[in-house]
Amino acid sequence: MAVLEREEELALLDAAAAAAARAEGSVALIEGPAGIGKTALLRAARAAARERGLTVLGGVASALDRDFPFGLVHQLLDPLLAAAGPDRRARLLAGAAAQAEPVLRPQGAFCTASTG
Ligand SMILES: Nc1ncnc2c1ncn2[C@@H]1O[C@H](COP(=O)(O)OP(=O)(O)OP(=O)(O)O)[C@@H](O)[C@H]1O
Ligand SMILES: [Mg+2]
Repeated sequence: MAVLEREEELALLDAAAAAAARAEGSVALIEGPAGIGKTALLRAARAAARERGLTVLGGVASALDRDFPFGLVHQLLDPLLAAAGPDRRARLLAGAAAQAEPVLRPQGAFCTASTG
């Protein structure tokens, strides 16, 4: 469903997506009262980024994840890596990303046992 009267916000988020396509990082903060349309705006921005051909990853940070090492990283990247074949996985984890590989192994070499 289209979001109404959010052209300015969508343009800002689309500019962030365009920057991402140029490998320029940015952060956007969406804030507003309950029910104002934050999730709807985010959904529209994600769809627009997909239309640009970008891979869109998502995760939700919550207090429950605090005891789970790299929980948000797993939320973001596990689906992408699980769907990737060996060649794509190798490309995704090449270069600087190789340092993250131990965290992202299926067995989770960095997962720690809770002591209580
Ligand atoms: N700009 C908009 N155009 C059309 N529908 C909208 C718009 N903004 C919000 N809505 C609709 O209003 C309802 C509430 O929006 P949404 O869930 O995005 O709000 P929210 O700010 O994320 O709420 P919460 O604070 O509870 O997380 C949804 O049904 C959504 O589709
Ligand atoms: Mg919401």
